[in-house]
Amino acid sequence: MPVQKTEKIWHNGKFIDWDDAKLHVLAHVVSYGSGIFEGIRCYETPQGPAIFRLRDHMQRLINSGRIYRMELPYSVEEFSSVACELVRINKMGACYVKPIVLRGYGEVGVYPLNSPIENYMACWNWGAYLGPDALAKGVDVCVSSWTRIAPNTLPAMSKAAANYMNSQLIRMEASLNGFAEGIALDADGHVSEGSGMNIFVVHDGTLYTPPLATSILPGITRDTVMKLAADLNIPAKETVIPREMLYIADEVFFVGTAVEVTPIRSVDKIVVGKGVAGPITRQLQQEFFAVTSGKTPDRHGWLTAVNAPVSAAR
Ligand SMILES: Cc1ncc(COP(=O)(O)O)c(C=O)c1O
Repeated sequence: MPVQKTEKIWHNGKFIDWDDAKLHVLAHVVSYGSGIFEGIRCYETPQGPAIFRLRDHMQRLINSGRIYRMELPYSVEEFSSVACELVRINKMGACYVKPIVLRGYGEVGVYPLNSPIENYMACWNWGAYLGPDALAKGVDVCVSSWTRIAPNTLPAMSKAAANYMNSQLIRMEASLNGFAEGIALDADGHVSEGSGMNIFVVHDGTLYTPPLATSILPGITRDTVMKLAADLNIPAKETVIPREMLYIADEVFFVGTAVEVTPIRSVDKIVVGKGVAGPITRQLQQEFFAVTSGKTPDRHGWLTAVNAPVSAAR
């Protein structure tokens, strides 16, 4: 789906016109993938548009930069306040907010530290990531023949642009073979994650998700689902998951800012459970949307109303 343009993009402290947010082709990021970013959803709530887990995303952005020795010139609070202002200025309701920090035009060799750091933030309207039916009916996925980035190669805990070359291989292979998504295994052959989403498996009433050491991005939705599971008294564990668990699990689902909570109805053409979203997936999905839409009290302080001053809202 082509991106739906909004009016303004934030760049290094100023709001500029969407069409002016351009880069030189020799910017360091173009050749070497030296960018980090976030993807954040803003939801419609009874208090107006509210950004979900805003500070957690901005903290992860700063962490992503730190791994690559990028000292970002803005704090979590400053980035958070820009995100709210951006949504207000563009008069958006529900939307997707994307901060991007990259190494720009300076030197042309691999060494990055002499190329300037450029900070951007954009927002636009974005619906269901895997199509309109995915949230209700679930998706058919495959295990990818591509291995997820291995430990001590590209750091998976940094949400860096370069990691998404691996994601693109996973996603292209899956799509071209008729699947909605691919599940990557880590370098040891254990379940890792999708091209842009974490994964959960339900087996005998317990929820399982792969640990950080299996080359996953520390997903904020993953953390959300673990906390919601605790609230709902659903036993949940982080554990290494063998590939074959995907084929015998009662339920499998993806989580992420883009996919939210999306049931998986088959893996490698083996039907998961009854081929529809199972009861634990449905319960967690309902709770997730109740929280993000502000329909239930924000007991974890996860929503930041964009129309309230950042320091007052959480
Ligand atoms: C590779 C990858 N894994 C997992 C996720 C899910 O993370 P989050 O829930 O923070 O969006 C994302 C999305 O950002 C991702 O790109």
